[in-house]
Amino acid sequence: MSILTIESTCDETAAAVIARDGQVLGSALATQTELHEQYRGVVPEVAARAHVERILPVIDHALTEAQCDPTSLDAVAVAHTPGLAGSLLIGLTAAKTLAVAWQKPLITVNHLYAHIYACQLGRTESIYPCVGLIVSGGHTSLYDCLGPLELRYLGGTIDDAAGEAFDKVAAMLGLEFPGGPAVSRAALEGNPEAYRFPRSLLNQDNFDFSFSGLKTAVRYELVGPGEKDFTQLDLPAERVADICASFQQAVVDVLVEKSRRAVRHSSANRLCIGGGVAANRVLRTAFEQAADEDAFELIVAPPHLCTDNAVMGAIALEKLARDDFASLDIDIQPGLQRGH
Ligand code: KG4
Ligand code: ZN
Repeated sequence: MSILTIESTCDETAAAVIARDGQVLGSALATQTELHEQYRGVVPEVAARAHVERILPVIDHALTEAQCDPTSLDAVAVAHTPGLAGSLLIGLTAAKTLAVAWQKPLITVNHLYAHIYACQLGRTESIYPCVGLIVSGGHTSLYDCLGPLELRYLGGTIDDAAGEAFDKVAAMLGLEFPGGPAVSRAALEGNPEAYRFPRSLLNQDNFDFSFSGLKTAVRYELVGPGEKDFTQLDLPAERVADICASFQQAVVDVLVEKSRRAVRHSSANRLCIGGGVAANRVLRTAFEQAADEDAFELIVAPPHLCTDNAVMGAIALEKLARDDFASLDIDIQPGLQRGH
């Protein structure tokens, strides 16, 4: 008794076979980093084409590793929202096709809910209710999570996502893609107080974030207003390290401060963090300190389950338990309504 989960919302193609008790029986993931690094960002058309090539081998790999005969599956699950339209379409089409061919019910999963659910994996006690922080390349938002499938939006970024800011700053500094790991590696040698970059919206009494001013501040530190050419900079390594450390600290400071306010505001005394940026070591340490000071429980997804993967699609088991199946004419939902 198990489910097949499929993830293709952005630039990772992933599949997993997960038993009803949550045990991961098989899992496969194909990254597309090598295709997007020359552009220093994900190119939607390139991502969609790569999903087409990779999705069946990835599913095959997960099923083989699990020694799973598809006839024994309970359902086929797929993340159908939010994400890049072309990428989502490949995953949803594969899931629908397999559901029809194998005569299995289809379950659709919200990718953001799954990022928070990554904190639940491997735990027996429920992580809900909790405040959920999602920090990824496409999203930076806070939710009141009443249950795995009941998230109430508290606030989020009004411009760039935190991961997007990491990626753009890395591109300006000539560091590799994806920018998060590259910036955090460079920051190891830097002084987080070398530059006083802005902490936007920190004084506003809401749960919103803004990272575009911070990105612009880094840009003006490197080149003048209106200048676009970063290729001739030839920066000394110490300067790169100081900029990375100071930028990273500015991002972490606002994420921590707004999240601890959200925990104070919520009746749940627990904060769960998921999404690619949650793999960041400085962020994890800063949140641990905040949790100690404010005496709330902190659960951060394990690093390998922070970035996109199909294992967090185990949230589909919650829908399976409720017989909450999707109809075969369901469509992708690339965007989320603000306030969702
Ligand atoms: O969750 P994810 O894999 O994809 C989305 O759903 O967006 O997140 C990818 C983002 C990228 O922007 C990447 O630069 C960032 O997560 N990231 C990090 C780290 N590892 C990945 N950002 C900061 N520090 C890291 N260690
Ligand atoms: Zn994601």
